[in-house]
Amino acid sequence: MSELPPEIDTSRPHPARMYDFFLGGKNHFAADRETAQTVLATAPTTLVTARENRAFLGRAVRYLVAEAGIRQFLDIGTGLPTTNNVHDVAQAVEPSARVVYADNDPLVLAHARALLTSDPAGRTAYIQADLREPEAILASPAVRDVLDFSQPVALITVAVLHFIHDEFKPAAALASLLGALPSGSYLAASHVTGEHLPAEAAATTRTYRSSGVPLQVRDSDEFARLAFDGLELVPPGVVLVSEWRPDGSGPRPAPAEVNCYGGVARKP
Ligand SMILES: C[S@@+](CC[C@H](N)C(=O)[O-])C[C@H]1O[C@@H](n2cnc3c(N)ncnc32)[C@H](O)[C@@H]1O
Repeated sequence: MSELPPEIDTSRPHPARMYDFFLGGKNHFAADRETAQTVLATAPTTLVTARENRAFLGRAVRYLVAEAGIRQFLDIGTGLPTTNNVHDVAQAVEPSARVVYADNDPLVLAHARALLTSDPAGRTAYIQADLREPEAILASPAVRDVLDFSQPVALITVAVLHFIHDEFKPAAALASLLGALPSGSYLAASHVTGEHLPAEAAATTRTYRSSGVPLQVRDSDEFARLAFDGLELVPPGVVLVSEWRPDGSGPRPAPAEVNCYGGVARKP
């Protein structure tokens, strides 16, 4: 971008821009690329993780619209616009689908126009917001305007919970958000893990943290407890993102290449 808002700090790496780099996008700066390359030097499978996670997001949203009948989404930790944004996937199935996007990185706000290309039958909105402050998200006029809280909503927290340390109480944040949604709502979430490559995950965590980006990998049980306690998991449950209702029967990457769990669950 030629003109950046002053609050965008290009001297520090940001998770949204590093993820964009891992996905092969164009919205990153030298600091993001350097830190991403350091991660890849010890954990080259991060490219597979990013790709498989993004594919999981698409399959989960398609499931929610086509099979669970969901028409409204609150996508927190949206990331930079890329292909198959939540509204692209949802509105391809049901043009009237409505999506509110939220991210705490000002660069995502600067690119948000690309998220506002709603089908005229549906609606999209973007808010700059932090998952650690659920009350502010719920009180946001854009959220209240676009989403009807008397009808089911799918909350999406895909590849964002690992940026929230236990001390910031991610389970409580999810509980607040889900508490505001009616029965029949859903949560779709994914989370990176160190279970399969502990040394590489420890190195990645150190690289992120030394660059000022918090990262806390969790194992599948920790993730399942954090995200899905009290919810009804949709089969196949909490699995590697590559194993969640995969398209087709082609070969899938090994667990130590994926390193990311995902799941979808219904609020009873
Ligand atoms: C790895 S990207 C995931 C993007 C997208 N959800 C996906 O899975 O394709 C993580 C995103 O979460 C955002 N993020 C990190 N911490 C956050 C927080 N506390 N509140 C809101 N967004 C956050 C980052 O800015 C980044 O855009």
